Amino acid sequence: LRRLKDYGNDKMLLTVRWENGTLILIDQTKLPTRLVYVKYNKYQDVANAIKSLIVRGAPAIGVAAAFGLCLAAFQSKAKSTSGLISDLKVAYARLKSTRPTAVNLAWALDIIMKKATEGTSVDQIRNEILDRSLRMANDDIAINKRIGQNGAQLISKNEVILTHCNAGSLATVGYGTALGVIRAAKDDGKRIQVIATETRPVMQGSRLTAFELTHDGIDVRLIPDTAVGHIMYQDTISRVIVGADRVLKTGHVFNKIGTYQIAALARRHSIPFYVAAPISTFDSKSKLDDIVIEQRDRNEVIKIGNKIIAPQDVKVLNPAFDITPPELITGIITEKCVLKAPYKTNIHKLLNSNR
Ligand code: MRU
Repeated sequence: LRRLKDYGNDKMLLTVRWENGTLILIDQTKLPTRLVYVKYNKYQDVANAIKSLIVRGAPAIGVAAAFGLCLAAFQSKAKSTSGLISDLKVAYARLKSTRPTAVNLAWALDIIMKKATEGTSVDQIRNEILDRSLRMANDDIAINKRIGQNGAQLISKNEVILTHCNAGSLATVGYGTALGVIRAAKDDGKRIQVIATETRPVMQGSRLTAFELTHDGIDVRLIPDTAVGHIMYQDTISRVIVGADRVLKTGHVFNKIGTYQIAALARRHSIPFYVAAPISTFDSKSKLDDIVIEQRDRNEVIKIGNKIIAPQDVKVLNPAFDITPPELITGIITEKCVLKAPYKTNIHKLLNSNR
């Protein structure tokens, strides 16, 4: 039996885990009404789970995809290493095609493929990539805890922190990035209140963040996305902390649609705006225009649940992510340090010191 290490909190939601040759995911489309765990034995089903948001959040989809490649290796009937690698390449392409914006997906798949190509027998490749994926899953929680500690040092007692989307346990293997900072601050004995935006159209804030924080006994208030400006105007928010799907070397942050307008409003009201992200979310190669912003189905916008809320034939724009420019960002909290401007220089230093 291979299982994730126990990180001392039995209650922590484990979004992605491997047990007895099976990948187990929390089906996030069923939340908040039902906490359902689904078992996966085929990489094709894992790809569908990523595409349909059963598992979502940059770090979580990276680790789920890594385990997807492990399942592909066990599904393969290849007798030679070259046969196995060619089967893995097919699975790699299928898994990578599921979602374009979060860099952690390609990051995780590339690490596992590299490991596979170093193997010298079919069995060795299977064992080595599974070990590497298990390590990636364990590392994810440990890294999030370090992000949490680095971020918690910034936070005073009695803060009211606004977050957007879900950058918590449910977006990672466990503990979370932005919500990890809040968990660590709370563990330091600071009283924190969280303001969670609903995050239309997929409602990660109301369905997931509100669920996760309530599950863990953290004080949370849910607001409509449209209330952000007013709540900031009332002078109640002390800080914003969000996650990231990709951070460019310039400091531009790709995150859930709506992040940019929150950052702009935070600047208008002189509220510090922080991003919490592991180094695996940094993309040192791409330029702004290289990144594909996922456009999602029109039904997410014209419906709430099964109820139609717009003219059926209305034209729809549904970008899933936006870009927050570095000048609106007070700091980026990583597992190594809290990055500040000038981001280009400081990200370069961080990524080079990490090699
Ligand atoms: O479309 P999603 O739900 O996968 O988008 C998730 C986000 O935008 C999160 O903020 C991001 O992945 C950071 S998660 C630690």
